[in-house]
Amino acid sequence: MEWWEEFFDEVWLAGGFLGIGERSPAEKIDYLWRQLRLKPGSRLADICCGIGRDALPLAERGVEVTGVDFCQPYLDYAQKHSNNLPLRLVCADMRRTGLLGSSFDAVTSLGTSFGYFEDEAENERALAEMARLLRPGGRLVMQLASRDGVLRNFRQRSFDNRGDWLVLEEGEFDYHTSRNKGHWVWIDSTGKRYERDLSLRMYCLHELRAMGERHGLSLLSAHGNLAGEELTNSHTHMLLTFIKD
Ligand SMILES: C[S@@+](CC[C@H](N)C(=O)[O-])C[C@H]1O[C@@H](n2cnc3c(N)ncnc32)[C@H](O)[C@@H]1O
Repeated sequence: MEWWEEFFDEVWLAGGFLGIGERSPAEKIDYLWRQLRLKPGSRLADICCGIGRDALPLAERGVEVTGVDFCQPYLDYAQKHSNNLPLRLVCADMRRTGLLGSSFDAVTSLGTSFGYFEDEAENERALAEMARLLRPGGRLVMQLASRDGVLRNFRQRSFDNRGDWLVLEEGEFDYHTSRNKGHWVWIDSTGKRYERDLSLRMYCLHELRAMGERHGLSLLSAHGNLAGEELTNSHTHMLLTFIKD
């Protein structure tokens, strides 16, 4: 079993998403709106949508959102909070969504939902699937950790209070595989402990640019934050916008 099959479960729901919030801020939704050239009626697939932190506010702005995630409890949560918005939710693996090819104006992969698979070819399959879903001229925004920035600011151990929860994160960077291997311990207000391991492939911009090109995706911009600053190694995350040929 791979780590992601056990990592994303109902503990996140119980922990109120451990401080990340249930909705993305308006600044992020505005950013996506601009980068993806969205308008009411645009068709967007949010791959690995989770509880709909982005999918729900985008649907509220009139975008026809299809959210894809393999975790049914998260989709149920999104459905429950959708207030009857026209939101389609599909339980599927990001590498084979089963959705119709070329049927979307925009695709998103947000909140570091990429680089999960140990086998590099499987990560590329996930990107190929996103490219397949886009119509020619359609756009993809990926938001994910940036290797250069993560390594510059690497912390092997951190403690954090998130709401009622205490979160301890330990990380080790494997230079041979470019994977950040983490061990997380979450402790709830009653003292109950939950432990999780993760292993994330860390990408540099040039790697994702080349991977995109292999699937007909040309890079339009690489930002280090929602203000649109050019990506540098002071940014731990990157926001990449691609256009489908
Ligand atoms: C870090 S969360 C990000 C969720 C959402 N994009 C956000 O920013 O709130 C990653 C999501 O990917 C989903 N996921 C993990 N592996 C997956 C897979 N192989 N196929 C589909 N979804 C997957 C998890 O269930 C989780 O909701």
